[in-house]
Amino acid sequence: MLPTLYSDNGDNFIVIAHRGASAYFPENTMPAFRGAVEMGAEMIEIDVMMSSDGVPVVFHDATLADHTNGEGELADYSLEELRELDAGSWFGAEFAGEKIPTLEEVLQFARDRIAVNIEIKTEAVTDQERGGVEEKSLELVRKYGMEDHVLFSSFDYRAIAHIKALEPTMPAALLYNSQTSNKRLPSQLVADYSADAFNCSYKQLNRKRLLDIRLHNIPVFVYTVNQQQRMKKLVKMGVTGIFSDKPDLLRKVAENVNK
Ligand code: G3P
Ligand code: MG
Repeated sequence: MLPTLYSDNGDNFIVIAHRGASAYFPENTMPAFRGAVEMGAEMIEIDVMMSSDGVPVVFHDATLADHTNGEGELADYSLEELRELDAGSWFGAEFAGEKIPTLEEVLQFARDRIAVNIEIKTEAVTDQERGGVEEKSLELVRKYGMEDHVLFSSFDYRAIAHIKALEPTMPAALLYNSQTSNKRLPSQLVADYSADAFNCSYKQLNRKRLLDIRLHNIPVFVYTVNQQQRMKKLVKMGVTGIFSDKPDLLRKVAENVNK
């Protein structure tokens, strides 16, 4: 099963704002998510890490320096310490003081508004099925009644196994990881982890994988596509959805192709 969109234009294609509308706003911040909604994205993609005191927060990197005024590893900071950091100034002075959002804050915003792809970052995953980032995130999804509007994903296939063990009906996608896939085709991978979709980079969508995906009718989501011609080609190929930093452009392209 795939998540249900809040406003589906019926074109069988999903416009996903990668880290929010991150070409125009600091990635993974509330302005980027609000911007995505305003630009007509149908889903936001967010990256989830864990603070040192076990709170799921929305941030892409393992380290803080590139996208905040902090330094060192995110996982060494408590939520209170993380909330003191400035996650906006690196992008532009007008975003000074933007905070790293918690997953809870983003779900609160997204509920009744936009579907969410929760990407669990490898750094936050452990061998434990219970009590980790997966279960905590799942509990928040349940708290906000978003079970039908969320797609979990991860490069770390353990996270997908944990999500499916905790909640078999929860939509979850494998983010293709060449190192741990041992040459398995998408259909084998999806079957091995009971996943609902296969996500990969546009560079990884070669002929062999595409044929396999089509043959087995597997939903496929492709990242990160910001060039108009590439968007057009992929939409025409019939991919299920595309992650873009420019959801406004992607929406326009999809509307023209599907006219
Ligand atoms: O989930 C798609 C994409 O976000 C995966 O790569 O590094 O941008 O999180 P990354
Ligand atoms: Mg991501």
